[in-house]
Amino acid sequence: MSTPPSIVQKFAAARHDRQLAVLEGFHAVKHALRFGATIDVVVGTNANEVDHLAEALAPDIRDQLRHGLQVVDGEVFSRLAPHAPPSGVLAIASRPPVDVGDLIREPHARPIVLLEDPRNLSNLGACVRVAAAADAAGVLTTGRQDPWHPEAVRAAAGLHFALPVAHVEESWFPGRPLVAVDPGGAGFRPSRLPGRAVLAFGAERYGLSQHLLEAADERISIPMRSGVSSLNLATAVAAVLFAWRLASAHGPDA
Ligand SMILES: C[S@@+](CC[C@H](N)C(=O)[O-])C[C@H]1O[C@@H](n2cnc3c(N)ncnc32)[C@H](O)[C@@H]1O
Repeated sequence: MSTPPSIVQKFAAARHDRQLAVLEGFHAVKHALRFGATIDVVVGTNANEVDHLAEALAPDIRDQLRHGLQVVDGEVFSRLAPHAPPSGVLAIASRPPVDVGDLIREPHARPIVLLEDPRNLSNLGACVRVAAAADAAGVLTTGRQDPWHPEAVRAAAGLHFALPVAHVEESWFPGRPLVAVDPGGAGFRPSRLPGRAVLAFGAERYGLSQHLLEAADERISIPMRSGVSSLNLATAVAAVLFAWRLASAHGPDA
């Protein structure tokens, strides 16, 4: 009979498994539970401290956390992540399946965020976090990074579970206008943004590819003070999504 993998082996394997997500820190685990994640294992170093955190910050998930928590000692915990989170909580969850075709066909007037080959995982996670907060339809990425990388999930505070997030090979979205968000575009009028747009943002250093700029139905820019070359990627996503949200039926006057 084979022995079950140790918790250290389990976390190490989960980091390379595209069906699984490693959740680092209390907030990531909190959002995953709140948005219906299927959790495989939750570990912590101190059950009382985790319980107090849940009581103070997330009473809605306190019972789930309390019943599921597996306590491990500090030495084992420090081997489960490259930078063990100070909150002393880590988990492994199943990634929810995403049907990109269904996402594209979603009838609601909510944009999809497309990140073209983002390089920085913290930036990528910050984009997912703001897209979830603005109630965007989903986040799609192209290029080299896995949008579910533990570093991106940590930066998103686990909000990958709040909306569809997936990697795609093709930037082709039938039935949805493709809007290139680019410092060289025309001045952005939030109330004119098509509700079902795919909003494409470029890589941190290089911006959008020529191919995507040419494929776009329109190019828009966020006005900036003279002398400033560009905004940080996640900041640009936040500016466009919240301008859209405040100007649309989702806004405060809705
Ligand atoms: C750090 S910027 C890339 C800078 C790159 N050198 C360029 O000129 O596009 C990353 C992405 O954020 C978005 N972005 C940043 N500032 C912007 C602005 N003022 N208007 C429109 N998009 C902007 C674009 O999608 C851009 O590709």
